[in-house]
Amino acid sequence: MSAINDGVPADEIQLDAEKIKAADRMFQSAELESSRLDRADAVHLPAKLYTSAEVFEKEKDLLFFRDWIVIARDDEFKEPGDYRTYEMAGERFIVARDRDGTLKAFINSCRHRGTPVAQGEGNVKAFICPFHAWTYDLSGKLINPLRGRQLGNFDTSNCRLPPIQVDTFAGFVFVNFDQNARSLRDYLEIDGFCSEIEFLRCQDLVTIDRYEFDMEANWKLVMEVGSDVYHVEVVHKETFGQASAGYKPQTSSNLRLTKYGATKRYSSPTFAPGGEALFGPMPWLADHPDGLTLALSFYLRPNFAFFARCDMIQPWVAIPLDVNRTRFVTWTCVPKEFLSRPAFAEKVQIIKDFCRKLNDEDRGFVLAVQSGLSSRYYPRGPVHELERLVHHRTQGYLAAMTSNGDFE
Ligand code: FES
Ligand SMILES: [Fe+2]
Repeated sequence: MSAINDGVPADEIQLDAEKIKAADRMFQSAELESSRLDRADAVHLPAKLYTSAEVFEKEKDLLFFRDWIVIARDDEFKEPGDYRTYEMAGERFIVARDRDGTLKAFINSCRHRGTPVAQGEGNVKAFICPFHAWTYDLSGKLINPLRGRQLGNFDTSNCRLPPIQVDTFAGFVFVNFDQNARSLRDYLEIDGFCSEIEFLRCQDLVTIDRYEFDMEANWKLVMEVGSDVYHVEVVHKETFGQASAGYKPQTSSNLRLTKYGATKRYSSPTFAPGGEALFGPMPWLADHPDGLTLALSFYLRPNFAFFARCDMIQPWVAIPLDVNRTRFVTWTCVPKEFLSRPAFAEKVQIIKDFCRKLNDEDRGFVLAVQSGLSSRYYPRGPVHELERLVHHRTQGYLAAMTSNGDFE
């Protein structure tokens, strides 16, 4: 963090410290004890944990600027020069494919006056700041300060946009703002995730759809709705619920609850009308004993998950923009072998439409729950067995927030 925090005025740091203290008091308060109980006795978190700016400050420090965060799929950056800009919790940054083929990530804020050096996405040879044309290479290094000799004693030879760690696993692009963080692989191996999902060969999938939208809601609600199986037969009855009716509900027996997340294996048809796998299974899963109903869900703290089916994976991430504003991004990824199958474009359109409808159904209920948070009568209701994952997320979250981020 030090590279990025260079130059933050002391009074701002002081303000953050005050906020953290206020958040600490909140996490030590007795009212949270009822959310820490075993699932059958527990109640959901109090409303203020979803609305407090102080809590959000603490989440930034202990989760978002400290954990490995999924931000993209590797195949979204095909050529050197391909880049995309991002925003998370008040920080703007860029991920770009460098000339040597590696991915680089850095803060999107010119070292002269802080102007963003790039917008949106695209392909560039270099990043040229639109204000005074300082030019940075694809790794974020300053290569041409305009009229640099007249800059006085500022050392332009050793100047770069503050770097962010970036790494990939299984085709997912992760960033980490903490320069001292443990490696991505070590992080994932704490829970044994690498070997567990290897059979899906996620790194061999191509992205056929990317769908994103912003919601006026706290990021935790988005994660909770995505972890809650209780609503499926109600909210998704017209789409996914219909096809999955009759399949074994996801009980705790097929859940693996881990330190930083969870996985679950269950039976479910795929994400398409009627649950039909339009391209058949992934070639490497053709002989899998679970057949066309193979299903796996994967959750990683703080804000990433993916759903796997016999023929696709759907990763998704809830990126906090602010305490009450979240950017939801989801991808649909299939084996590249499908690209040459007959009627590829038509079938992809059917899958896209279906998945967007599914996500829109959830969006409505994220907003519905958020709208109740300001009420003085906001209930802290019970946690159903089919909300077990929500309960597990809550335990991991509370542990992280009261033990300086780590709870080993
Ligand atoms: S702000 Fe970027 S060159 Fe001046
Ligand atoms: Fe849902």
